[in-house]
Amino acid sequence: MSENLQTSESVKSYFATTDDFAGAMKNDDKIFLYARGSEPTVEKFNQMIAPLEGKESAVSFASGSGAIAASLLSLLKSGDHVLYNQRCYSWARHLFKNHLLRFGIECTEVPDDDFENIISYIKPNTKMIYVETPTYYFFKDLNLTNLFSATKPKGILTVIDNTYHGPHNLKPEINQFDIVLHSTTKMICGDGTAMGGVICTSHALRKKIFTDGLMSLGSVMTPATARKMIKGLTTYKDRTLKIADEMKALITYLKSESRIKRFYYPWQLNEKNEWDSHPHAKFPVGLLSFELATQDDVKIKKFCESLKRIRMGVSYGSKEALLMPSLIFAAKGSDLHFPSGMCRLSIGEEKGHAVAEDIKQALDQC
Ligand SMILES: Cc1ncc(COP(=O)(O)O)c(C=O)c1O
Repeated sequence: MSENLQTSESVKSYFATTDDFAGAMKNDDKIFLYARGSEPTVEKFNQMIAPLEGKESAVSFASGSGAIAASLLSLLKSGDHVLYNQRCYSWARHLFKNHLLRFGIECTEVPDDDFENIISYIKPNTKMIYVETPTYYFFKDLNLTNLFSATKPKGILTVIDNTYHGPHNLKPEINQFDIVLHSTTKMICGDGTAMGGVICTSHALRKKIFTDGLMSLGSVMTPATARKMIKGLTTYKDRTLKIADEMKALITYLKSESRIKRFYYPWQLNEKNEWDSHPHAKFPVGLLSFELATQDDVKIKKFCESLKRIRMGVSYGSKEALLMPSLIFAAKGSDLHFPSGMCRLSIGEEKGHAVAEDIKQALDQC
């Protein structure tokens, strides 16, 4: 038998017999041989998250982008065609628009508001449909009504980036995806101290992704990170439910503030101050976008820089309230349109009324 290294976090196991060693080589997706494969702490995280997404198994990565790249590069080959929704995470879109083509994989961008017509985009060589719903930055729910009836009979793989809704949140009737993936860097980690990604899927797809997407691409989650993800996963639901409650005060304020033109949040707060049921997800999360009424860049900058409690930065899902204004995309040169004065806001673990007051005082400065 291999030495039990559950606590030592060594990168490898030791074997007393050649038969055991050969057995581990053969089953390196299940037996701890070398930490770029199946590793005990990472495996514990995998086994915790897979059932939360209604899947048989999971495989973890160094980042969400690592998980996305592994799912595409291990399951697609030259001559295949893949569909993806336009406003998906920018670096996922970068892969579709730049890298996959170099490997002879054809990619078609589907407009987010045409997703119900997904069937009309399918070609004989369509192998995969990749979705991020709600969409990146605009948080528009994709219409998934026709997705599974179009894909299941043809054996087309469906992948969802479910980072926004988070684990254990997709309604079971919606979760017919073959692959549910997350950037665990966000809400699962929860305190902004570690990066990770995970793919939840069937045993059969995991085996392929493990060999062709993890072992050969090497974007592996470390045991130290897995320990943080396990802790984060344990508290995920309670944290998110508290945040959902705080979002009520923030949404109530945004609705009443005339200097906010509109906001983008997939959840509706009704007159009884309760969340209406959502078509895809069970509970609301702490990320939205809003658009300032002003189009004046000087005033928009002044607003952003006058915030006291809300900080500016990328990523989300950490403890602090965090703002990402669309102004910064111009500097990066995105080909997609983002209204000026649009801001993405993660409430973090802040109080909803405190975040609202901060927005109000910053608007007063402009
Ligand atoms: C929706 C979504 N998917 C994937 C990623 C990529 O995750 P990571 O930063 O862990 O590589 C991000 C990162 O912001 C994201 O927002």
